[in-house]
Amino acid sequence: MWNATEVRQALAGLPLGAVHIFQRVGSTNDEAARLAEAGAPHATLVLADEQTAGRGRAGRRWFTPPGSALALSLVLRPVIHAPPGYVAALGALAVCEALEAFGAQPTIKWPNDVLLLERKVAGVLPEAHWEGERLRFLVLGIGVNVTPEAVPPPEALDFPAIAVQEALARPVERLSLLRALMTSLLSWADRLDTPTFRRAWEARLAWHGRMVEAHDRHGPPVQGILLGLDAEGHLRLRDVLGREHRLTAYAHVRPR
Ligand code: BTN
Repeated sequence: MWNATEVRQALAGLPLGAVHIFQRVGSTNDEAARLAEAGAPHATLVLADEQTAGRGRAGRRWFTPPGSALALSLVLRPVIHAPPGYVAALGALAVCEALEAFGAQPTIKWPNDVLLLERKVAGVLPEAHWEGERLRFLVLGIGVNVTPEAVPPPEALDFPAIAVQEALARPVERLSLLRALMTSLLSWADRLDTPTFRRAWEARLAWHGRMVEAHDRHGPPVQGILLGLDAEGHLRLRDVLGREHRLTAYAHVRPR
């Protein structure tokens, strides 16, 4: 259960547009889109204790049982002058910084996942809403597994998962994590087009400097050393022949 008064207190002073708190919802991304359609301002936050139809990337389901997770979506009105991948990175970086405030050492499994102990602890689902060529608004959805109940059974996973409390081996208050996450997110949201943002993102890339294998739906698998990011936020790999590859956000990366 979320206690709405406590949530509002925890978020006090942050530059949010509006805050909508649900005990149970289908998907916070859908709810945020509905609110944005109805005119919700920039930085409107939708938070749910439980999602019954949470959505992940590539049409997958996202599991959010009550009391176990952070499941939230933020409406962003397009004042963002950055390549599309940067919005997902905003979510991933904010999760990392929030976890670091609790003493964890997260990494970003490019493009959208946050890992603790090499297992997925959080996922990010940015969705752009267009009217013809015009970007009307973005919804940035973030799901963090806080307690082990949020971690789906292994057969439902395509990458091992973990909860924050398991990785840290201690209880973590959802409210404090929420405050840390929103603080980081809002502090970076209007600085996506800065070198500082890209450096902060790149510094947290999982397997940086190591051999990885990438599968991109647009081509054959590529193996190479993970070099970092280019200006577009694409992942750079160098294969054994010294050729450089740039991956689009459709790629999946795994260590070799
Ligand atoms: C992924 O890793 O596949 C992305 C998962 C994103 C899950 C979050 S939970 C809050 C928001 N609402 C949704 O339906 N999905 C996102």
